[in-house]
Amino acid sequence: MKFELLPDKVARVLSDAGRIADEIGYNIYVVGGFVRDLIIGVENLDIDLVVEGDGICFAKKFSEKYSAKLETYERFRTALVTMENGLSIDIVTARKEKYPHPAALPEVSEGTVRDDLFRRDFTINSMAIKLNSNDWGKVIDFFEGEKDLSKGIIRILHDLSFIDDPTRIIRAVRFEARYGFHMEEKTESLAVKAIESGIFDALSRERIGFEFDILLREKNFAEILKRMLNLGILEKIYPEIDLTDVLMDILASLDKKISLLQKNLKFNENIDKILLYILILHYNMNSEKACSSASRMRLNKSFKHEILSFINIRDNSLPMLIGKGSVSNYDIYIAFKEISTEVLVALYLIEDNHIFHERILKYINCLRSIKPCITGKDLLKAGVKPGPEFKEILQSILIQKVNGTINTIEEELDYVKKTRISSES
Ligand code: CTP
Repeated sequence: MKFELLPDKVARVLSDAGRIADEIGYNIYVVGGFVRDLIIGVENLDIDLVVEGDGICFAKKFSEKYSAKLETYERFRTALVTMENGLSIDIVTARKEKYPHPAALPEVSEGTVRDDLFRRDFTINSMAIKLNSNDWGKVIDFFEGEKDLSKGIIRILHDLSFIDDPTRIIRAVRFEARYGFHMEEKTESLAVKAIESGIFDALSRERIGFEFDILLREKNFAEILKRMLNLGILEKIYPEIDLTDVLMDILASLDKKISLLQKNLKFNENIDKILLYILILHYNMNSEKACSSASRMRLNKSFKHEILSFINIRDNSLPMLIGKGSVSNYDIYIAFKEISTEVLVALYLIEDNHIFHERILKYINCLRSIKPCITGKDLLKAGVKPGPEFKEILQSILIQKVNGTINTIEEELDYVKKTRISSES
């Protein structure tokens, strides 16, 4: 076992866990994704421990040793320990699960480590490593997980797995893309059957949203979407999404496209890639569909606002901005003024129009930072009385600066003088 490759803090936590379990007479194992990634040599700091005994009792002793934060969940006898060194450790009491009906949350009862591994999603996630000192490092692999891992196969443990928990279908697609694996034939055909039977209708929007949110953070999101499209998952969970080949291509090369664009743009602000994905996914919708999709996805208010602003500019300003007709700098400024960088970037990537691209570049690189140099103090000095006239003068200076008819502070002051003279005469 590649324990020696683990960061020191992780190795120490695991051996301490084994020692503490020895003291109270429990068997203890590290399980799931941690073991999978350890075997293939990928760093994973999410530690899941299974205790044959009382998980909460173990968690109390363990958190005392490290003076760590402890949260316990009585119903399933599980606990979460958050340590000062940044590690968080999930501790569960080994259990059996029974699903009362499809897609429901399971009923649980006490069990062995084998029961606990059998209730899991795929063979590659159903391995354990024993941590007690007498068996330290022993791999427990009842379901040939290691063999599947070496062959790159995602395989469920029993035929009803996807019926019990349809989120596993989404997880399967995620692991396929992340590791370049593929579902074993029977697993895939059971997934397709479950999808066709409408299994996702039984799943709450929250649970779908939770899984989708994880997908958005995966490196190969576009690949995942394509697979979800082909398996018919996307239309079942998010029927409003209409992914054309053009959108798919943009999603697939998003990182490259963003860094190319950043070279042309004078900004190095961080772009929220998840927001960008969400905007692109909503591009082919009208506002009504977009609202219903955003609610279905359980998106927050700010994301909903961004989507609507994206659709609004697409419908109302785009025809003017992609046209050859005369468009002043101030027209561009006004059209983009309230728009986030992500919306601008999404529009830039989707609209393949040279004139439009130049206008976006001009706005981001130059227009958006223009402001009058003079302040209220200068206006007072020039004899302007505080009130609506202040705002009018500053606004007029802004328009002229954006359009390039005023360029320096002297010209701004001249303009104020001229307005004073004409308003007095
Ligand atoms: N698990 C499962 N069925 C699910 C979710 C999780 O069987 N629907 C099990 C798997 O054994 C999984 C473990 O719980 O390995 C931990 O789940 P989670 O942390 O969500 O996934 P990981 O496999 O660790 O994947 P990731 O690397 O994406 O965190």
